[in-house]
Amino acid sequence: MKQYKVAIVGATGLVGQEFIKVLEQRNFPMDSVILLASDRSAGKKMFVAHQELEVKETVPESFKGIDIALFSAGAETSKHFSPIAAQAGTVVVDNSSAFRMSPRVPLVVPEVNVEDIEWHRGIIANPNCSTIQMVVALYPLHKVNPIRRIIVDTYQSVSGTGAAAIEELTTQARQVLDGQNTVPHVYPHQIAFNILPEIDVFLDNGYTKEEWKMVEETRKIMHAEDTAVSATCVRVPVFTGHSEAVHAEFSQPMSPEEARRILSQAPGVKLLDDPVISLYPQPWSAAGTDEVFVGRIRQDASNPRGLAMWVVADNLRKGAALNAVQIAEEMVKRDWVRPRGN
Ligand SMILES: NC(=O)c1ccc[n+]([C@@H]2O[C@H](COP(=O)([O-])OP(=O)(O)OC[C@H]3O[C@@H](n4cnc5c(N)ncnc54)[C@H](OP(=O)(O)O)[C@@H]3O)[C@@H](O)[C@H]2O)c1
Repeated sequence: MKQYKVAIVGATGLVGQEFIKVLEQRNFPMDSVILLASDRSAGKKMFVAHQELEVKETVPESFKGIDIALFSAGAETSKHFSPIAAQAGTVVVDNSSAFRMSPRVPLVVPEVNVEDIEWHRGIIANPNCSTIQMVVALYPLHKVNPIRRIIVDTYQSVSGTGAAAIEELTTQARQVLDGQNTVPHVYPHQIAFNILPEIDVFLDNGYTKEEWKMVEETRKIMHAEDTAVSATCVRVPVFTGHSEAVHAEFSQPMSPEEARRILSQAPGVKLLDDPVISLYPQPWSAAGTDEVFVGRIRQDASNPRGLAMWVVADNLRKGAALNAVQIAEEMVKRDWVRPRGN
């Protein structure tokens, strides 16, 4: 099997470290790997497959000879370096929001639209974490009974903001328990023992950018331009694992039993749905796992064509690193790792 030269941009971050774990765990066919970050982390040592590697500063020359670059270093870094990498013949899988809605860039969740990878021109976008887990759960139902409308409320963990937010929750939780005042740095208000209905910036229409990502990305990934989506995205004091209350309205009525039957065979989905024994997905147990967990499936009492459900996944794995590595694996399997323009 062909082996690939891989670069991880943002290797020192939460998603970057998860990239390393996922590549190791899944035995990705790597000939070599280079770890890239900003000049702040240059020289730092990290281990990949028991080998100690030095982190290098990301510069335009970093991508010479690299087959696949996994980016998770923020939108500005992606906007600057992804086109340079693609020009050098590297295929970029980008975790940031920089290119997700570009008509020239596929936005891919392999369980939903793997075929979109084929038309890449050197950059493939990894969707927003909340969108990924929702479409993995909804697409198998949408295929048999098109979804007309989705209303989703999210409960998103602080690791979705990055390493600094984990530190902020830890520090503030201690301060509150010790009776001290807290000073927010990462979030606009205290996050410990609190919840914040603000993720990313506010837009003129009253939604936040995170909420609007769920609207636009869901339609692009599922090829469902006519599906109406409304989201409320909320940050909660959980370290890892995003949870979502999803209400879907279908074209025709769908029973909870049929939804359970379909989802029990759906790729990437694990059903945890037995109210009798309080079995339902929870972020604590989803953290560190690969599946999208679905439970609490029930008829929407307000809509005869509606179902309500509870969807949970690890935002750093399926919501970021795992999905990106799955995209790379699909490219390898189908021989779609090719330089731009070919
Ligand atoms: N966390 C999630 O659940 C999640 C999910 C989906 C997508 N994402 C996206 O993934 C990206 C990273 O998220 P994260 O949670 O891993 O954040 P993080 O923990 O704050 O890590 C940020 C990483 O980006 C690097 N970086 C920052 N500026 C850079 C620059 N100018 N050049 C090169 N590298 C630079 C940092 O390197 P230094 O160590 O040198 O500072 C670090 O490795 C973001 O775009 C985020 O939106 C995150």
